[in-house]
Amino acid sequence: MKNKHDEQEHRTTRRDFLRAGSIAGLGVALGSLSLSGCASSQPQRGTFLAPGALPAGRPVRVGFVGVGNMGSAHVGNLLNIEGVQLCAICDIVEAKVARVQKLVEDAGQPRPKGYSRGTLDFKRMCAEEELDLVYTATPWEWHTPVCVAAMQNGKHAATEVPAAVTLEECWELVETAEKQHRHCVMMENCCYDRTEMLILNMVRQGVLGELIHAECGYLHDLRRHKLTNVYEGQWRLKHSIERNGDLYPTHGIGPVAQCMNINRGNQFETLVSMSSKSRGLQLYASDQFGADSPLARQEYALGDVVITLIRTVNGETIVITHDTDSPRPYSRNILVQGTKGIIRKYPEELIHIQGRSAGHDWEPLDAYREQYDHPIWKALADKSRGFGHGGMDYIEDYRLVQSLREGTPTDMDVYDAAAWSAISALSERSIARRSRSLDFPDFTRGAWKDREPLGIISI
Ligand SMILES: NC(=O)c1ccc[n+]([C@@H]2O[C@H](COP(=O)([O-])OP(=O)(O)OC[C@H]3O[C@@H](n4cnc5c(N)ncnc54)[C@H](O)[C@@H]3O)[C@@H](O)[C@H]2O)c1
Repeated sequence: MKNKHDEQEHRTTRRDFLRAGSIAGLGVALGSLSLSGCASSQPQRGTFLAPGALPAGRPVRVGFVGVGNMGSAHVGNLLNIEGVQLCAICDIVEAKVARVQKLVEDAGQPRPKGYSRGTLDFKRMCAEEELDLVYTATPWEWHTPVCVAAMQNGKHAATEVPAAVTLEECWELVETAEKQHRHCVMMENCCYDRTEMLILNMVRQGVLGELIHAECGYLHDLRRHKLTNVYEGQWRLKHSIERNGDLYPTHGIGPVAQCMNINRGNQFETLVSMSSKSRGLQLYASDQFGADSPLARQEYALGDVVITLIRTVNGETIVITHDTDSPRPYSRNILVQGTKGIIRKYPEELIHIQGRSAGHDWEPLDAYREQYDHPIWKALADKSRGFGHGGMDYIEDYRLVQSLREGTPTDMDVYDAAAWSAISALSERSIARRSRSLDFPDFTRGAWKDREPLGIISI
């Protein structure tokens, strides 16, 4: 199948495509944009004033936008974290708003105000409501518009992953957060997975030596999800029709970037991506709905397997795999390698440490768990039990609320949101140009050299 991105230079901005009422052009608004910086005037360089703590005893007042699968899970978490009030709920589907309003009331809080007058009603919510935080779990193309509207109205913003679809949006998030002095946090739950946090703890304690290489990715058979009605209006399928690149890099790269101190003493420097042909969605649609069905005849831009290579300023290499249209077991393919040893997570959790592991053999990572379990997990394992994705979703929401209440830096910030999300747009561009190597933008504008690495946080 021919890749549409090979045939044309896309210059459509997200706003253009939204005006056109079409998803075509999503994520490829790169042609007129400098890869190394934003064309607009440069606000405060690479930093923003840390907002203070909330007044003692005041709950974090939250407006939630997009209460489908993942949004509902976050609402469930937030209702079980002390010091949170759900004040407003927004979704284009009125029935979903009503369902969550009832959930909030059933949890003993006042009925939140509902907003469901169309795709831009989040703007009315951001303007009208007195909120500390606007949190969104909408389709990808809405994440940046919601976050920007929130920050422009003086609210902090939190978004599901990825935070942005285009490089232009990445810069928009950074510039708005800096100008408005508001947090903009991309909620990458996999940074809070127990094993990923264990690995971070081991890296910080020098068990692997100096880092050299990592592998990661998102390998999840989503064919049924994309081709049925799991996602409202099949929004995710539309991205597979129009875009070829690593559409969902952050579950893998988030924890790896934290281990490698990206934006905090290190930077992604160059990227190159390559895509396989596209077969999985057509074959699955043909099998499920018939060879003549519209979904079987549809052409999909997204290659079944997309491989991205990154080299960092400090000389590490990273391989990221995106594979969502194949029959395969779930994996994030985590591997972290240093001068003294190596850890891998899928399909088994294994480790080899020079001088400790026998010969050239792997040993089970479990043998190291008690010694290196992350303090956050030691503290929150009981509270998080039974919540989504093994409890890591609860822990990420807990940490966000804690940071806002106490006025401490968030574990992930707007520069992380921009750098991790930018991989999608850059990989699309690299693939469209026959796997050309591209430079990474420096969203911190040099401040990465002096920023402190994320520590081992305890609560
Ligand atoms: N971190 C994770 O593990 C994880 C897991 C699943 C999904 N997600 C992310 O969560 C987000 C949502 O995915 P989902 O599976 O919940 O999809 P979904 O379709 O179930 O939910 C999206 C919701 O947003 C609503 N919506 C769409 N446009 C809107 C707009 N303009 N204003 C207000 N509401 C709008 C839809 O009606 C729907 O209820 C995506 O970004 C996805 O990548 C993350």
